Amino acid sequence: MSKQSQLNEIAAEITQCVKCPLANSRNNTVPGSGNPEADILFVGEAPGQKEDEQGIPFCGAAGKFLDEMLYTIGLSRDQVFIANTLKCRPPENRDPEDSEKQACRPYLDKQVEVIKPKLIVCLGRHSVANFMPGAGGISKLHGKAVRRPNGQVYLALYHPAAALHNGGLRSTLIEDFKKIPAILNKI
Ligand code: URA
Repeated sequence: MSKQSQLNEIAAEITQCVKCPLANSRNNTVPGSGNPEADILFVGEAPGQKEDEQGIPFCGAAGKFLDEMLYTIGLSRDQVFIANTLKCRPPENRDPEDSEKQACRPYLDKQVEVIKPKLIVCLGRHSVANFMPGAGGISKLHGKAVRRPNGQVYLALYHPAAALHNGGLRSTLIEDFKKIPAILNKI
C-alpha cells in the first residue's frame, strides 16, 4: 500500500475517533496534511479555531507565519508534512491535557512510522515534551538538532503562534528555522 493510502487510512480512523472528550466539542478532526514522502515532519500542539473549522493544520495566522518561514528555506507546504500532537481542538485553545495526549499519541506514532521523516521538527513545548521527554525545556533545547536513542533526529523550535506576539521569540524562531537545511544535509 502506498504511503498516501496508509496516511488516508490513519486519517479515516482519526475522523471516527472518540477516545477522549474532545470528540464531543470538535467540528472537524485535523489529522495532518502534506507530502507522504517528506523528509521533514512538523508537529505542532493542537488545532485552533480555524483548523477546527477547516480540518487543515496551521491554516490560521500561525500557519501563515510557518509558510513564510518555509519559503525562506526554499520549501513549501506540499514538500513537507504538517501534523499536531492532538488531532482535535481543545475548547478555548486551552493546553492539551495529559490524558488527551496519551489517547492521541498512537495516531502520531503511526504517521511517523509511515512517513519515516529524516527530521521531526517539534513546534512548541507540548510537541517537545511529547517527543523528547526528560530532555529539558524548550528554552534550552530550541535550535539544536538531537538524535534520540530511537535513532530519530528531532529539532525543537518555538511555536509560531507564541513567536507571533513576542519580538524576541520571533527573531529566535526565524534564526533557528534557517538551520533546517544544514541539519537535513547532515542526516
Ligand atoms: N497551532 C498548532 O499547534 N497547530 C495548528 O494546527 C494551528 C495552530
